[in-house]
Amino acid sequence: MSSFPARRPRRLRSTPQMRNLVAETTLRPSDLILPMFIADGLDEPNEISSMPGVYQHTFDSLCRATEEALEAGVTCVDLFGVPLEKDKDATGSVAWNPDGILNRGIAALREEFGDDLIIMADTCLDEFTSHGHCGVLDDQGRVLNDESVQLYQKMARSQAEAGAQIISPSGMMDGQVAAIRADLDEAGRDDVSIMAYSAKYASAFFGPFREAVGSSLEGDRRTYQQDPRNFRESLLEAELDIEEGADFVMVKPGLPYLDVLSAIAETSSVPVAVYQVSGEYAMIKAGAANGWVDGEAIMLESLTAFKRAGADQILTYFATEAARLLK
Ligand code: PBG
Repeated sequence: MSSFPARRPRRLRSTPQMRNLVAETTLRPSDLILPMFIADGLDEPNEISSMPGVYQHTFDSLCRATEEALEAGVTCVDLFGVPLEKDKDATGSVAWNPDGILNRGIAALREEFGDDLIIMADTCLDEFTSHGHCGVLDDQGRVLNDESVQLYQKMARSQAEAGAQIISPSGMMDGQVAAIRADLDEAGRDDVSIMAYSAKYASAFFGPFREAVGSSLEGDRRTYQQDPRNFRESLLEAELDIEEGADFVMVKPGLPYLDVLSAIAETSSVPVAVYQVSGEYAMIKAGAANGWVDGEAIMLESLTAFKRAGADQILTYFATEAARLLK
């Protein structure tokens, strides 16, 4: 008689077919959301040097990249705007101008793709302010909460008007979800949903994004984004956002915060998204370019980890590339 125990987990790993039979996690192209950048005043798309394969888009290239995403089975994009330097001001007013670059980008996508595409818009002022903060400042340079939230309301309303179906407030101001929800409802836009950046950490993993949007920020965002040392406040943030009417909650960055994702996914009564951010993308691309890691394998493994941890949607710059492999 064998001295090994009867319970032998390796039996279920014997062939690809057996492994597929018992796989608990499935990654689908429709789980993926592609973040994209539309930039004002470009003649040609501009590749972001720290994010190979990711571009500041012209209207033309934005539509082409969206077409490719749709062909691969990705049905949702998250749009960020990159304004001209001269259009930035202290309040970021070009953000809610219907002729501002982000609203024009949303409108162009809506016109081109109709209901085939879900358009999500980033609702935050940092790309549009001359100081690069996510809100307005007092005379000491502190970010003002309620004053900033009022500007998010205007921005969200203009994005809904341009054709966005998901508003995505990423500024981490207190009460931003309730305020935007109330204002959208007042404007008769109860059809527009809100994906709240609920647990968003003051992270160095956002580094390449600052290049992507030509950020003017000096300093950091530690007075409004969460401290990486803390876990509990993520639960509070998600709970408050759900109470305030969020249709989705989100955790960001992704891989370094899987514990947070997993805990929120366990208790959330609404879908839970995760954002694999610019630095996570850049590291995988850099490792692969050096031949140090297998880029495709690591990409799929990290996306699978998000689903295993409980994510319902994954925002990732890999969306199109990954979806092609999953088809
Ligand atoms: C702020 C915003 C940021 C990102 C998304 N929305 C940057 C920040 O908070 O500093 C980061 C995305 C990424 O790194 O991929 N509007």
